[in-house]
Amino acid sequence: MTFTPRVFSGIQPSGDLHLGNYLGAIRRFVPLQKSHDCIYCVVDLHAVTVWQDPTELANATREVAAAYLAAGIDSNAHIIFNQSRVREHTELAWIFNCVARMGWLNRMTQFKDKAGKNAEAMSVGLYAYPCLMAADILAYRATHVPVGDDQKQHLELTRDIAAKFNHDFADRIKSLGLGEDGYFPLTEPLISGPAMRIMSLRDGTKKMSKSDASEMGQISMMDSADRIATKIKKARTDPDPLPETFAELSERPGARNLVQIYASLADKSPDEVLGEFAGKGFGVFKPALAELTVAELSPIATEMRRLMADPAEIDRVLESGAEKARRIAAPVLADVRQIMGFLT
Ligand code: TYM
Repeated sequence: MTFTPRVFSGIQPSGDLHLGNYLGAIRRFVPLQKSHDCIYCVVDLHAVTVWQDPTELANATREVAAAYLAAGIDSNAHIIFNQSRVREHTELAWIFNCVARMGWLNRMTQFKDKAGKNAEAMSVGLYAYPCLMAADILAYRATHVPVGDDQKQHLELTRDIAAKFNHDFADRIKSLGLGEDGYFPLTEPLISGPAMRIMSLRDGTKKMSKSDASEMGQISMMDSADRIATKIKKARTDPDPLPETFAELSERPGARNLVQIYASLADKSPDEVLGEFAGKGFGVFKPALAELTVAELSPIATEMRRLMADPAEIDRVLESGAEKARRIAAPVLADVRQIMGFLT
């Protein structure tokens, strides 16, 4: 069976959006609009797997939507919406809770990282989180999902869930005429390029993350030009000059990270960047990187502020996006109910 090529991705409205979210996800969402139908979601139901203050959640939801719009997602030609508005996600997530196996979820490293030694005190939602993510994607039978490297395991689980569903209900799917080789696609992750794993500016061995203990480790999409320059200037590197090839940076995580950020912003390969900067020190490289980062983020931050000043307009975009999303997801759920034998 061939599936309509469709892109789905999502970002949690929890804390400030940072350069990792921008380079690893949002910036890569934009060109896909030319080749695919795209659905970009603000995953508020994922955010509440850990405590969220209700008024801040509403604001953070609008902020992610504003970032999508400001970066250049066209909400008329494509879909921008917030997850909780489309009930099909939670319904399919429950069904996938019954498809996925405990052993699969027990292997999820992100849960282990987030829960640490405190797993007993975590919400059940945080544990079942990957099943909701699979539901987000498969409610639209999406074929491609652009994400950063940290989501790779969740996408493998999504494929496992699709494959098990297709297998368990194969006869039923065929006899209902809903597909010869299964009902759900085995979704392809789109994870590539120098931006797939942006690291903390304070520690090049740790991912840049919303929950970074030090604010200096991450560049927020809303940071001022001065703040961006300060953070890059203070980024932890080493005293050696830059080498000629990226391979030579394998033991220099801080330097490696900055070169990757530069490469991603300049749409070059890390080796091309080193071709320009080989032999130079960070006194030269860091100001060039700061300039590039500010040139990219500043206009987006300005546009985000303008959009955030008119929340009613963002709410209108999200509401009409949800309506369009529901039109795709509702028939999928109707099929799934039939496949499973629910009386409707
Ligand atoms: P979230 O909100 O943590 O992150 C949003 C996107 O940003 C990427 N990302 C990074 N990329 C490069 N370097 C980094 N340091 C970095 N930090 C974050 C993430 O990989 C992601 O693409 N579970 C998802 C949200 C989600 C989703 C989905 C994604 C829910 N349902 C369905 C795709 C499809 C998450 O927590 O992303």
